[in-house]
Amino acid sequence: MMIYLNGKFLPIEQAYIPVLDRGFIFGDGVYEVIPVYSRKAFRLEHHLARLQDSLNGIRLSNPHTNDQWCQLIKQLIDYHDSDDQYIYLHITRGVAKRDHAFPVNISPTIFMMSNALLTPPKELLQKGVLAITAEDNRWGRCDIKAISLLPNVLLRQLAVDAGATETILLRDGFLTEGAASNIFIVKESKLLAPPKSHLMLPGITYDVVLELVENHALPYDVRPVAEQELRSANEILLTSSTKEIMPIVSLDGKLIGDGRPGPFFHKLNQLYQHYKELTMRGKQVSSS
Ligand code: PDD
Repeated sequence: MMIYLNGKFLPIEQAYIPVLDRGFIFGDGVYEVIPVYSRKAFRLEHHLARLQDSLNGIRLSNPHTNDQWCQLIKQLIDYHDSDDQYIYLHITRGVAKRDHAFPVNISPTIFMMSNALLTPPKELLQKGVLAITAEDNRWGRCDIKAISLLPNVLLRQLAVDAGATETILLRDGFLTEGAASNIFIVKESKLLAPPKSHLMLPGITYDVVLELVENHALPYDVRPVAEQELRSANEILLTSSTKEIMPIVSLDGKLIGDGRPGPFFHKLNQLYQHYKELTMRGKQVSSS
């Protein structure tokens, strides 16, 4: 497997970083996960824009222009056997003597790898998945895609321990997102999306979903979602770049709706798959 590290493509076995890297010491860095379909990076410009926002959020200069990123990502995709992949892109503040304060005159560490993308199988989408809830105890800048993911790791593990797929997070009685995904609910045939804020990651898939419902005149609202609304939802949907759109059919052991993926999920997933196909074939880049 060939990876990219600080200006070079090399086999992963030969890739090392110094132990004083601030990513290792402090989790001082940001990342992106970019899906690739038929060797084309999906919504790349949106991922690069979010990367820039994350870098701004941690006061780190972008080491590359978007054109340079596109070139590097293209090369990385070419090295991989699979047509469908997901790219993990990671930038840390670099290597320096351990001190919390930003060091001066150091170069960031830039790492990228690509893996085969296995989207959820059809059978799972027909059955749906289970979720649990937990209090969102993360920091106040969840909009930054920071590599310091310990709270997300601990929250996600609660789901794994409970035999579920995702932990849905609640803060002050309102839905924020999942431990590694965005969450939507459907109530009385209307999609409800929690509004973007510092308390959730502005998902690229979240944006695609909102574009699709807008362009196809499906009913939706972007507004805070209370815990009670989540618990009594007709449908709950999870979105992420690697999981796409998944239906959640049970929450904390209680069935959602009739315990099967609902009509809104089926419609939205159909629109999403169609939009993906068109984008891959390069026929269309708008979600209408
Ligand atoms: N995570 N919220 C959180 C906390 C996430 O970690 C993710 C995705 C999302 C969905 O964002 P997007 O649609 O842009 O993938 C929301 C990625 C996939 C990860 O960390 O592996």
